[in-house]
Amino acid sequence: MMTGHLVIYIMVTIFVTISYAPPKIPVHYIASGISANSSALASHPLGPFWNLRLEDSALEYPLLINQPGICQRKNDSSGVGSPTLLIAIKSQVGNFENRQAIRETWGRSGLLRGDFNKKGGLVQTVFLLGRQDSSTGPHPDLNNLLGLENEKYGDILQWDFRDTFFNLTLKDLLLWRWLQQYCPTAAFIFKGDDDVFLRTDALLDYLQKRVEEHKLWRTYTNETDMNLFVGDVISNAMPNREPSMKYYIPESFYKGVYPPYAGGGGVVYSGSLALRLQEVSERVRLFPIDDVYLGMCLNRLGLSPIHHPGFLTFDLPGTDRNNPCAYKSVLLVHKRNPKEMLTLWKQLQNLPAQC
Ligand SMILES: *[C@@H]1O[C@H](CO)[C@@H](O)[C@H](O)[C@H]1NC(C)=O
Ligand SMILES: *[C@@H]1O[C@H](CO)[C@@H](O)[C@H](O)[C@H]1NC(C)=O
Ligand SMILES: *[C@@H]1O[C@H](CO)[C@@H](O)[C@H](O)[C@H]1NC(C)=O
Ligand SMILES: *[C@@H]1O[C@H](CO)[C@@H](O)[C@H](O)[C@H]1NC(C)=O
Repeated sequence: MMTGHLVIYIMVTIFVTISYAPPKIPVHYIASGISANSSALASHPLGPFWNLRLEDSALEYPLLINQPGICQRKNDSSGVGSPTLLIAIKSQVGNFENRQAIRETWGRSGLLRGDFNKKGGLVQTVFLLGRQDSSTGPHPDLNNLLGLENEKYGDILQWDFRDTFFNLTLKDLLLWRWLQQYCPTAAFIFKGDDDVFLRTDALLDYLQKRVEEHKLWRTYTNETDMNLFVGDVISNAMPNREPSMKYYIPESFYKGVYPPYAGGGGVVYSGSLALRLQEVSERVRLFPIDDVYLGMCLNRLGLSPIHHPGFLTFDLPGTDRNNPCAYKSVLLVHKRNPKEMLTLWKQLQNLPAQC
């Protein structure tokens, strides 16, 4: 088992090292989508990309900051206990401003009404952090500040691993484990980055519709679990073979096209699916690109992510960005800095009736 880990570790290290060239990093990963050469589509991975031996490295990272009671904390007169929507945001220790902007705008925890549908639901936000210290580069020590922030807001989850780009997949795995233990009854999970803007009320409406459909469906089948996974779906993407690129994956590491996956910014999935993903992830070999890894886990479950055109990984056309009406059909845009979040939030509170 140790040898297996060692090999994976060495592989990761090797291609991290190979790709060290000054990063000519694209703003965001652009998957090639449909391959130009359709006859060359599905060459298969060299080995199966999942193996049946349990991969337990992810289990070894303990929580440094936890919120064990956060999913039972809010209880208004209606007696709602667990969140309708748990918003889990991948952040880094230093991104105080992003977290605060999210708390003050689209990630505000509490009862929220829908955009059209007044039903809405209970929203709870948490931030997913790793450790940032001198081993990840020169960093000022922000631990005391983080402690204060957590005392005030109580919404930080921090695990004891190095918060690096190739470790991002760990946050998904550890989130699933955390959900299983501390928040198994959350109806839906939104997992996203701290530089996106989510129209939380519109998302609640969308999810409410899916729940009603599912109830109808249930009367015809005995399916009780809702396997919903929605985002900006990319199909038939080839791994990036350019060694100087951020998302470089050598053919020796993964061959063939990726399974369909939801890229960039954020995805939403049902709580019951999160628990299934947690289980299956123990049988899917870790892959350093988090979005793709989620696609692999879904694939292993025999499921596909659902595409929703409201997830705008690549933003609105430039001319529309400052027009509040253009956000009417949007669920998520990437990317927005904290100031832009506050401005957009304010604009969307008073959308003109003619939109
Ligand atoms: C398309 O794929 C086939 C089979 O892999 C290969 O022989 C051919 O050269 C490819 N064509 C192009 C234009 O890449
Ligand atoms: C929430 O409040 C309701 C009504 O006050 C109560 O019956 C219920 O037990 C509470 N639930 C939790 C988890 O505290
Ligand atoms: C991921 O985190 C672990 C634990 O802190 C660390 O040992 C490892 O080097 C990190 N991996 C990468 C690729 O940064
Ligand atoms: C649903 O479950 C019931 C009771 O277990 C069973 O009698 C019935 O045949 C099932 N229906 C379907 C469509 O699977």
